[in-house]
Amino acid sequence: RKPLRIAIAGLGTVGAGVIDVLQQNAEILAKHCPRPIVVTAVSARDKSKDRGLNLSGVDWVDDAAKLAEHPNVDVVVEVIGGSEGKAKELVEKAIANKKHVVTANKALLAHHGTALALAAERAGVGLAYEAAVAGGIPVIKAMREGLAANRITQVYGILNGTCNYILTQMRETGREFADVLAEAQKLGYAEADPSFDVDGVDAAHKLSILTSVAFGVAVNFAGVRISGIRNVSAMDIAYADELGYRIKLLGIGRQTPHGIEQRVHACMVPAASTIAKVDGVYNAVVTSGNFVGENIAIGRGAGRGPTASAIVADLMDIARGFILPAFSAPAESLEPAAQAPVGLH
Ligand code: HSE
Repeated sequence: RKPLRIAIAGLGTVGAGVIDVLQQNAEILAKHCPRPIVVTAVSARDKSKDRGLNLSGVDWVDDAAKLAEHPNVDVVVEVIGGSEGKAKELVEKAIANKKHVVTANKALLAHHGTALALAAERAGVGLAYEAAVAGGIPVIKAMREGLAANRITQVYGILNGTCNYILTQMRETGREFADVLAEAQKLGYAEADPSFDVDGVDAAHKLSILTSVAFGVAVNFAGVRISGIRNVSAMDIAYADELGYRIKLLGIGRQTPHGIEQRVHACMVPAASTIAKVDGVYNAVVTSGNFVGENIAIGRGAGRGPTASAIVADLMDIARGFILPAFSAPAESLEPAAQAPVGLH
């Protein structure tokens, strides 16, 4: 049983979480997975920092790009983040060197997903990204496997844990937005630049990936109409409550007669609906398929454990030899979607 040798680029919250899962759940993984998954190399900015991890025997490189040509690496796990720069360079080089890539980087896929998928297919390697959308909820796998027999008509949900946490806290405590944001940052849910969370950009990154998978079209981040939650006040939330609604930041992708509509904005949802009750750092994804009907998945959308759990599941797929095209069809066949104007239908 030849081990699957992995490199982790970035030992922050999520990278360290991946090592935790591999070490603490080694017995479980061995049951489900025919090959052991072994970390052979890592890269991180600060080598001296004590992360409480056992990294003996692991090769430590100073520059992440070196992992792409490392002789003892089969899969590069990219958890650096950001759509350009180091993360993009690493993923492109790894694919060119015929290494599989597992990434949690939604910004990278939102901007370059289709091109990277094409490169991966040409190189004959996998590009897996379950952790990029809705954290620990296996929504990409659900759409591509369990729901694959359906024509998807709509996919929407709570796609940003930080915003949902902030809106929940504002409602429960009556505090204002800025006050609660600092708390979400401390809890480690927020992006390096929290404006990506609160201005709806992070949810839009995830939505563009989801709509690509749902509707079988090229990823089109530029086609998402985006607004965030900065202007939602504690009073808005209180009024919505009185009227029987909750305020949630939703990402919505819909097939319309005019093309695909993609939007992210704060919505009033009826208090009795399932999605209204999804609070805190939890995410929810509602998918409508023409045979299955409505399907709702709820789970933790951010944080060390949930994100690492999704990354390791992707690694297990690769170890099992289960490698699908990155999106719902070979990248070569993904057409740009006809884009519906928002709100005109
Ligand atoms: N900042 C993101 C969120 C992390 O709050 O949902 C998970 O992608």
